[in-house]
Amino acid sequence: MNASSKWGPARPMVVMGAAAMISLLLASCQGDDASIGSARISCGDGVCNVDETCASCASDCGACLDSCGDGVCTADETCTSCSADCGLCPDLCGDDSCDASEHCSTCEADCGACPDTPATVTRGPYLQSGSTSSMVIRWRSDEGTDSVVAYGADPTSLTNVATSAATATEHQVRIDGLAADTRYYYAIGSSTSPLVGADDDHFFATAPQTGAARPTRIWVLGDSGTANDNARSVRDAYDSFTGSRGTDLWLMLGDNAYPDGTDDEYQEAVFEMYPDTLRNAVLWPTLGNHDGHSAESASQTGPYYDIFTLPTAAEAGGVRSGTEAYYAFDYGNVHFVCLDSYDSDPDPSGPMMTWMENDLAATAQPWIVAFWHHPPYTKGSHDSNSEGRLEDMREFALPILEAYGVDLVLSGHSHSYERSMLLNAHYGASNTLTGSMIMDSGDGQEGGDGAYSKPDSTAEGAVYIVAGSSGKTSSADLDHPAMYISLAELGSVVLDVDGARLEATFLDDSGSVLDSFTIRKD
Ligand SMILES: [Fe+2]
Repeated sequence: MNASSKWGPARPMVVMGAAAMISLLLASCQGDDASIGSARISCGDGVCNVDETCASCASDCGACLDSCGDGVCTADETCTSCSADCGLCPDLCGDDSCDASEHCSTCEADCGACPDTPATVTRGPYLQSGSTSSMVIRWRSDEGTDSVVAYGADPTSLTNVATSAATATEHQVRIDGLAADTRYYYAIGSSTSPLVGADDDHFFATAPQTGAARPTRIWVLGDSGTANDNARSVRDAYDSFTGSRGTDLWLMLGDNAYPDGTDDEYQEAVFEMYPDTLRNAVLWPTLGNHDGHSAESASQTGPYYDIFTLPTAAEAGGVRSGTEAYYAFDYGNVHFVCLDSYDSDPDPSGPMMTWMENDLAATAQPWIVAFWHHPPYTKGSHDSNSEGRLEDMREFALPILEAYGVDLVLSGHSHSYERSMLLNAHYGASNTLTGSMIMDSGDGQEGGDGAYSKPDSTAEGAVYIVAGSSGKTSSADLDHPAMYISLAELGSVVLDVDGARLEATFLDDSGSVLDSFTIRKD
């Protein structure tokens, strides 16, 4: 379907049935005017003469003003005066006459004269579940319409269209048949009106072919949902850092909208906070405990599950999970695994861990990055020695992940940045850490002690990052012995994967790099 024809000239304003209705109403108005002419008190003389118009009467003696207060429009009342005096809809159905029974709402419903007032986008657009060949584009509008996305290689020539016919205010359009590793420009709207896009600011890119080594930038936010100046400063620091390089994909590590993950809180903490990144890069979230206050993983209900469209059937790679609560996807040569550490069963023989093991066994990707909310190692505002969910993830998830060569684990929950050394097989409390569990105790920096080395997919060792300070910091001991560095500083993490090299950077809220390390597989 061609976009220009889809969004060509507006449709005819008045249909036949409505025109007939209008004629009848006009005849009714004029009849009323004639019949009441001699009975109306108009100019203070006790007699309303038929030749006394509203205009002359109002200017002469001001007695005709009830003409707009009686619910009936007379023939000599203009649209302008009628609208101003009694709030009737001016130029109602395109016939230049006012009618008492025609109000804006009925006009729109009855004769379709107002639909060229476009709906307004109140959320998004935002990108979800992108793959090598597909993209989901979502947005919210203030009025229900059908959904149309026009897209193409050039913002001035969006020659392809994807649609959803259902009338909705929550719009979701899935585009299939896209080329891998390709930028597309887009616009969103309805079959009657484009709303936003068709410019340089609205684009998305499909994922590279699975396994392809393509420089990839990933932005990682944890506990970012404060909707305040802290979150804004972290955002602005990253925007300045990445500049025209842009973002290929981004992760939210949970507690994305405080305090309860409600729709209104998501509006402020996510959609009004990150509009630029939302429309250009696919967001992959995980459920935090605060998001979980208003959501339920078993039924996949609540704002978190309503807002996000996440892969349940391996739409973006990996093995089918059957739920949005935990899922996997591929981007280039990286395999991502998202777990639900708050509201799904963490038992090693339960559905989530069983699925994860099957998924990890099936991937041939050189890089494996896992993320969830509750950190396996932290001495920040939470203590992984003594909090159940944290202990569960350490004891149940880590052995599986490490058996399949996980390289990096990202979590939040503690409002700090805590980054481990290269570790292996540390599944107990912090006082059980031994030297044999530390594969490399250096800083991991190529200009320092040297990058962490994992020369093949079976090599042991992973780095664990707590990145829960994208919206707030909390004072704490910050002395977990597995950590190379622990900071109570606002910031976010930037991951750059390029072939056999992964670099992680902790960027604070003023744009300073407070930590970085590299893992190499060559
Ligand atoms: Fe949390």
